[in-house]
Amino acid sequence: MDFGMKNRLSRIFSPRTGRTVMLAVDHGYFQGPTTGLKNMKGILPLIPHADCLFVTRGIVRTSIDPRTDTSICLRVSGGPSILGALSNEDIIVSLEEALRLNASGVGMSIFVGAENEDRTIANLGRLVNEAVRYGMPVLAITAVGKEMVRDARYLGLACRMAAEIGAHFVKTYYCEDFERVVEGCPVPIVIAGGKKIPEWDALLMTESAIKSGASGVDMGRNIFQSDSPVGMIKAVKSIVHKGVSAKEAYKVYRGSTKTSVPAEAEDADKMEKV
Ligand code: 5RP
Repeated sequence: MDFGMKNRLSRIFSPRTGRTVMLAVDHGYFQGPTTGLKNMKGILPLIPHADCLFVTRGIVRTSIDPRTDTSICLRVSGGPSILGALSNEDIIVSLEEALRLNASGVGMSIFVGAENEDRTIANLGRLVNEAVRYGMPVLAITAVGKEMVRDARYLGLACRMAAEIGAHFVKTYYCEDFERVVEGCPVPIVIAGGKKIPEWDALLMTESAIKSGASGVDMGRNIFQSDSPVGMIKAVKSIVHKGVSAKEAYKVYRGSTKTSVPAEAEDADKMEKV
């Protein structure tokens, strides 16, 4: 691996922990102004807490301070809106643009088991071919789409395929037996958060994913749609980089809210003492 590739990867995965907290704010590329991202000013206080921002070029150009220390992983696939066939994506951003924006990585979705599967996989191959010429890491995003069964068998297939085609890291969803997904994938895996769930559940999911071998998160809605987005990103970060429990992380999140500890967290505490 050459210097450029290693250097860029070290801007995404902390050299201290080997893990990453990526903040995903790319949703508008197919969903439009979604809850929490209607005005991108809302995410600005979150950026210093993230290792990397997963974002489109339009938002980088219009809304991100170029003096930021947080690295950029640029979404380079797109095409359909939420009203169309999601899998009908192509590569829509050039490597030249990614370099101009000083991206530390580029990311695209693949749609294993869906319509356009073969085209999106071929697109990943083409993107990797070009990206490695410039030492640019490629993130493959798997299992997007409500109809996908998100179990270890399917996610294991999709993640392994992404790695075999040449992705340098993969984003997928957490599932039961996640160790099997990690075991079968020779490159680092980060988890997406998925749709907004209670903060306690999102922190438990993060803890389980890290314990199962995930290398971090690329999380969006469970951070920016939280009642305390800064508290939540700090809490997620404490799990990813410090290895604290969901219970400890919940206190970090709660530090900036008035929410009481949920019954499940109290139960977890009792279990720890048994
Ligand atoms: C959408 C994406 C998002 O970046 C990804 O889903 C992460 O965001 P969230 O945690 O909200 O699921 O790649 O295609």
